[in-house]
Amino acid sequence: MNDYPLNYPCNFVIFGATGNLASIKLLPAMYRLEAANRLPDNLSFIAFARRDWGQEAWLAHMRTVLGDGLAEQFDQAVFARFSSRFTYLRGELHDAESYRKLAEELGKPKPGVCTNIAFYLAIQPAEYGAVIKNLDVAGLNKPRGMHRIVVEKPFGQDIESARLLNELLHRYFDEEQIFRIDHYLGKETVQNLLVFRLANTLIEPLWNRNFIDHVQITVAEDLGIEGRGDYYDKAGALRDMLQSHLMQLLTVVAMEPPPALEADALRDEKVKVLRSIRPIPRNAVHAHAFRAQYGVGSVGGEVVPGYQDEPEVGRHSVTETFVAAKFYIDNWRWRGVPFYLRTGKRMPKQMSLIAIRFRHPPQQLFRETPLETIEPNWVLLSIQPSESMHMEIHVKQPGLLMNTRVIQLNACYRRGDERPLDAYETLLLDIIEGDRSLFIRFDEVEWSWRVVDPILKYWEQERDFIHTYPAGSWGLHEANRLFDSEDQEWRNEL
Ligand code: BG6
Repeated sequence: MNDYPLNYPCNFVIFGATGNLASIKLLPAMYRLEAANRLPDNLSFIAFARRDWGQEAWLAHMRTVLGDGLAEQFDQAVFARFSSRFTYLRGELHDAESYRKLAEELGKPKPGVCTNIAFYLAIQPAEYGAVIKNLDVAGLNKPRGMHRIVVEKPFGQDIESARLLNELLHRYFDEEQIFRIDHYLGKETVQNLLVFRLANTLIEPLWNRNFIDHVQITVAEDLGIEGRGDYYDKAGALRDMLQSHLMQLLTVVAMEPPPALEADALRDEKVKVLRSIRPIPRNAVHAHAFRAQYGVGSVGGEVVPGYQDEPEVGRHSVTETFVAAKFYIDNWRWRGVPFYLRTGKRMPKQMSLIAIRFRHPPQQLFRETPLETIEPNWVLLSIQPSESMHMEIHVKQPGLLMNTRVIQLNACYRRGDERPLDAYETLLLDIIEGDRSLFIRFDEVEWSWRVVDPILKYWEQERDFIHTYPAGSWGLHEANRLFDSEDQEWRNEL
């Protein structure tokens, strides 16, 4: 067995075990950790869900989910080991009796199994309160300090509900026990961004308003809402993606170097960035944010329905599936540099990209040559599907004329023999090991809500219209109104 800290949790309860998050992210990530021999020997899982299933049906479900999801990575021997750790428990999130049964199951003496527990809330945010209170009623949060609770984003629906949720959590758990997850922080490129910025003397001196014209952060998905209409229609892209994932990316791009790579030192710097974001006044929301919803269209050659025709979505819903927003960070490093954030479902392809555009060279030295203006340089950090860095620079074209061309210096920082890690693998292991550096502190959540709250509030009152873009497109021309100057445009390709 690996070396785990003394009080790591060896019981892992997944609430919502048959749901989308568990099937798509948690089970495959846990399985991969099993395959890599990274799970403690005595770790066992309780899959808590509402379906009226027994152990056999659960195992068959898990076999299908993992078999389909992992394809050729699936291995029968690893699955046998992995599945033997699971017990299925049928239960209702609002029913105290189900928690009594859970407590009973957790109390069963198992040889070699310790008593610490991690509770993973892979459920709709609206249910968090019920689970937290019921855990307390069943005495499952005690002794305080021993167990861990993992809370997915969005943490609250807005700033007020986030505060209430936080108070509720603190009534029953200590801060050291709470893991607020944002899986984008577990992605390798995001962690690499810190190394790229702070370990390279070549880069950091340029990383400021003197050299950078603007920053774009795009998270585009070709997928739709994948059967999550009930949750998504209440959330929308601003809550589902921008307030959490994109804001976290922004903080990592913009933060000052922390004095040490410790959880709180990093979080302090991220909070400073969020606190420096210029508040958006009500009358400027239109100039700072744009929303739209996908209509019928085609993605990857396949015709797909519009958002309002998805199951569990209101026929006249004005929930946004695309959002673009502009923020300014009013500090010495970034004052005047716009940060454009954009995310959408049913875009032409999956692409998460941080694109940094540099300023034009101050001197137009090439004015008298065939080259009239020189395109500015870009640094591109691709998060997915590829994990790579690209720098665009000018070189002279070979030949008699003074012409230039742009070439890219490309670096895929994973060697061919290195397996890509899923963010959830990193984060699940951190939960087991008790490392909170890649998890969010409440003040980060709170400040991030503060930044987006004016947009949310404004949109809540504009309930009768939303722009529609065809599924499979990059959104609408109207999103360009956010740009500060005519030579700025969205970067849709590496
Ligand atoms: C989740 C959102 O947090 O992130 C989903 O709820 C989204 O709507 C997903 O699809 C995207 O994650 P990834 O890792 O696939 O980019």
